[in-house]
Amino acid sequence: MPAPHKTKQKRGLWSSRLGFIMASAGSAVGLGNIWKFPYITGMHGGGAFVLFFIFCIVTVGLPIMIAEMILGRHTRKDPVGAFRAVRGGCWGVVGWLGVIAGFVILSYYSVVAGWAVDYLWLSIRGTFSAAHASGVPELFSGLLASDWSQLFWQAVFMGMTVFIVLGGVSAGLERANRIMMPVLFLILVILAVKGLFSPGGKQALHFLFHPDWSRLDPPAMLEAMGHAFFSLSLGMGAMLTYGSYADEKTSIPGVAITVSIMDTCVALLSGLAIFPIVFTFGMQPSAGPGLVFKTLPIIFSQMPGGSVIAVLFFLLLVFAALTSGISLLEVVVAYYCDEKKWERKKATLIMGLLIFLLGVPSALSNNLLKDLQLIGGRNFLDSIDLIATNYLLPLGGLLIALFTGWVLTTGLAKGELEKGAVRIHFFPVWYFIIKYVSPVLVAIVFLHTIGLF
Ligand code: PFF
Repeated sequence: MPAPHKTKQKRGLWSSRLGFIMASAGSAVGLGNIWKFPYITGMHGGGAFVLFFIFCIVTVGLPIMIAEMILGRHTRKDPVGAFRAVRGGCWGVVGWLGVIAGFVILSYYSVVAGWAVDYLWLSIRGTFSAAHASGVPELFSGLLASDWSQLFWQAVFMGMTVFIVLGGVSAGLERANRIMMPVLFLILVILAVKGLFSPGGKQALHFLFHPDWSRLDPPAMLEAMGHAFFSLSLGMGAMLTYGSYADEKTSIPGVAITVSIMDTCVALLSGLAIFPIVFTFGMQPSAGPGLVFKTLPIIFSQMPGGSVIAVLFFLLLVFAALTSGISLLEVVVAYYCDEKKWERKKATLIMGLLIFLLGVPSALSNNLLKDLQLIGGRNFLDSIDLIATNYLLPLGGLLIALFTGWVLTTGLAKGELEKGAVRIHFFPVWYFIIKYVSPVLVAIVFLHTIGLF
């Protein structure tokens, strides 16, 4: 194993612990929290689903996040290099799975993020004001019907992502996150407080936090666990890559706990911002994936001050998507910089372009390519989302947990975990969870998704 300090000089490092926290939270907080969490919570009946999701974050998400960050910092490498450095042999495949997942996820993530950029632009132009209310319900189907619009906004989003990643670890990723994450929190808190004081606020609180355990069936439990992976950016080496830019003084459990809490809070705040509006206007919480893009704009156009709230909301969505998008691209770029010794500029531009091209079929999947159905009648975008989220991430997470618990030596894991100003000494607890609990729970999810359980 190469000594960490030899490679340290050539690679970037976060300038501070706060920068590391903001960047990791930026990766975790994304479309998964603001777009997906509210609608799947709505579809699975609220309270009990929310509590089980939090249980998954604690028993599976947090331990695996710590494992990824430890592996990254110990090896100071990209995901492929990290696994090879510790054990070699076929374990490099786990890193490869991560690089492929980053490639694939960003290809369609950028399409959905492109819709958010389009909606931000529309809201800035005042489209969601009372004067234009009659045209709002058709906006989403109008966007999906235009291949060119989707390609254009996808390209805009990828352009912004590439621009930030070109800047490098500290000047690009860290600076962008440091600016965007606090703004994102602020906007969300404003929206949630406003929501709570609206007529539907009480009903939303009850819906989100009052568990009706009869609604927590096995599919809901499995969905909650899969979403914990996606939401915390786990199972594909994004947190491993970010951990590889952390300095030796930082306590990894402290960062991982903070990031997990922030991610969960943003998901809950999104629920508190969205459900009061839904209940105030008598809409259904179970409206599905269209909740953010179809239901909310209609409501914005009907409520007092809605056009300003619309701008804030879509700005929030774009920031969240961007800070996650850059972490997806960074996994791929880190591989080419570390393993193939490419310049960051070359890796970022070439990979950004290739990912954009891979995303083209997703952008066309609602119109030109709508007959191209891959899995169970799903269009291209939904099919690769399914492959990546339900197959690649759980598989990656399972292998990372097994690697950390059974391949990495105990001494090495303990040493890395206890670096920095550790206040809580919880190595035995974490080690037991990562060795036994997390793999078993993830295996259950994974076997379910491939239909064996
Ligand atoms: N965590 C992001 C979200 O919730 O939108 C999505 C994501 C980003 C998944 C980065 C995986 C990843 F590596």
